[in-house]
Amino acid sequence: MSYPSKHLLAIEGLEPPHIADLLDLAESYALLNRSGKTQRDLLKGRTLINLFFEDSTRTRTSFELAGKRLGADVINMSVSTSSVNKGETLLDTASTLNAMQCDLLVIRHAQSGAPALLSQKVDAAVINAGDGTHEHPTQALLDALTIRRHKGSLQGLVVAICGDIAHSRVARSNIHLLTTMGSRVRVVGPPTLIPADAARLGVEVFHDMKAGLKDADVVMMLRLQRERMSGGLVPSAREFFRFYGLDAEKLAVAKPDSIVMHPGPMNRGVEIDSAIADHPTRSVIGEQVEMGVACRMAVLDVLARRLPRNR
Ligand code: ASP
Ligand code: CP
Repeated sequence: MSYPSKHLLAIEGLEPPHIADLLDLAESYALLNRSGKTQRDLLKGRTLINLFFEDSTRTRTSFELAGKRLGADVINMSVSTSSVNKGETLLDTASTLNAMQCDLLVIRHAQSGAPALLSQKVDAAVINAGDGTHEHPTQALLDALTIRRHKGSLQGLVVAICGDIAHSRVARSNIHLLTTMGSRVRVVGPPTLIPADAARLGVEVFHDMKAGLKDADVVMMLRLQRERMSGGLVPSAREFFRFYGLDAEKLAVAKPDSIVMHPGPMNRGVEIDSAIADHPTRSVIGEQVEMGVACRMAVLDVLARRLPRNR
């Protein structure tokens, strides 16, 4: 396994073999999960702490499942009932957990860069579960695994990432991963929701959905991240749906065998029509969630191999 670091803080900086090895290992975990088997000795004696300062359904649950399927002791810290409310800082909270000999620390935080800061202060391996508008690396891995299962390879695919690119860490991690692996990435959305530095990221920018979706192999929809918006960057939800919501008419210009993705949580009728979200052959949204567990098992496995045994 070629993975180069003690932590997983970002996709940016990883090279094709690092990503390919992680995806191969995740694929083997996907098969193991489908067979109903577990590998409870791999992380036996290891402690994983989930530290989520922002809401989560999929990421937190799947890290918990992944840790348990590999035999780790998993603790979900409830930030809302923790001493953070008594004024304890992020670093003091992390040092406290570190003193309890935590091996793997999974953190989600509203501040971009918070996991990187923690990684310099604790002995545990730190995994970024989403930091501000920066990155959500395990989301990009599970998206890539889902795409690879449907399309065989990431090389040469046209992937349209649509909606609120500016506030999306999912978009950023996916752009880094997919361009590194040879896909052609388009970002599609209103000018107010496309970051100024988009072209520097190696993507093509579209403001018209049908132009951006034309002949795409993969259509990835994103939620409007209103919690990170200041001011009126979008018109009404109804108007947004009319121009940028994915419905059958807009999807018709993509390749006939294109797949539709969404990291979740979805806002039906805002960025995606229910008939598309639930489409039996085109939507792979459920499979993304399944691959999330497999990818997180792969990441925990790889990082735990690099930890000293006697912590
Ligand atoms: N769940 C993803 C994230 O935390 C996407 C979203 O919330 O819209 O970044
Ligand atoms: N995709 C994703 O990160 O979902 P949650 O916010 O529910 O974890």
